[in-house]
Amino acid sequence: MTHPHVTDKHPGELADVPGWFPPLDQMLFTWFLERQHRQGTHGDLLELGVYMGKSAILLGRHLRPGETFTVCDLFEGEAPDGANQAEAAKSYSSLTRQAFERNYLSFHDTLPTVIAAPSSVVAEKVAPGTCRFVHIDASHLYEHVHGDIGAAHDILLPDGIVVLDDFRSEHTPGVSVAAWEAVLNRGLRPVCLSTQKLYGTWGDPEPLQEDLLEMLRQRTDVGLSVQEAAGHRLIRTRSRGMKPPPFPTSRHYVAPVPAPAPAETAEPRAARPARPAPSRARRLARDLLPPVLTRAVRRARASRA
Ligand SMILES: C[S@@+](CC[C@H](N)C(=O)[O-])C[C@H]1O[C@@H](n2cnc3c(N)ncnc32)[C@H](O)[C@@H]1O
Repeated sequence: MTHPHVTDKHPGELADVPGWFPPLDQMLFTWFLERQHRQGTHGDLLELGVYMGKSAILLGRHLRPGETFTVCDLFEGEAPDGANQAEAAKSYSSLTRQAFERNYLSFHDTLPTVIAAPSSVVAEKVAPGTCRFVHIDASHLYEHVHGDIGAAHDILLPDGIVVLDDFRSEHTPGVSVAAWEAVLNRGLRPVCLSTQKLYGTWGDPEPLQEDLLEMLRQRTDVGLSVQEAAGHRLIRTRSRGMKPPPFPTSRHYVAPVPAPAPAETAEPRAARPARPAPSRARRLARDLLPPVLTRAVRRARASRA
């Protein structure tokens, strides 16, 4: 995981917030959350692992009246074990709760409910069967992800969506094991895969997949393939130069100042002094003498000079 560029400035746009949330996943989150809205699905939102708030800021935009958004992160706190502590020190050392809150409040009027603790506490803090969307992006070590998936299973509504980050990255084999274990042994049904994330449900994935395929087939910026594996339909997506979906700018956004027009250095044509008209002899030479002869005349003149 490369370290995103961290700044202490207020973000003007979502792109200014450091994090790991590619355009393809921004588009897929937006699509899943808008579809839930269109279908009248109500429920809370939950994110485990916020870092500087990039994905949380997008999630918060889809919160409807009466719903709760809860986020959980260690922030500057102690990790529950040495391996998790090493992971946090290596990848998230610049994180502070203050930085997350500053970024979040740049785009939203109120903070979500913040749990500053290991994700293992979430099962006690968030009521079962309340959430319509859970993003699991905290520790990427097997034991933690296994626990987070179990908590998501209990917390989600029957047709809720769970997203598992880094389910196949080279440096996160623990997430891969926990993700496919959940598919093969814990009833999780994949809906689709992006380069970085697995989208799944413990409900019926088929109606979702049909709608998703219809949307994806109309896009020219998504590479798409469908495969069967162990009785699961896997919709694979990848970005083909995708741009992030439109997202409102923050309260600190300053529109770029247009570059000044290049200064007029040359004199306007009309103001240039007119060239003196060529003499009659020159005009005759130019019009009547063939080029070779003209060159010969020039050479003869030069040798006389
Ligand atoms: C990959 S980052 C999250 C990225 C974020 N979702 C984004 O869009 O940029 C992982 C986050 O999980 C947090 N974390 C790591 N281990 C955790 C644990 N056991 N419990 C809760 N949060 C944890 C880290 O502090 C870090 O902020």
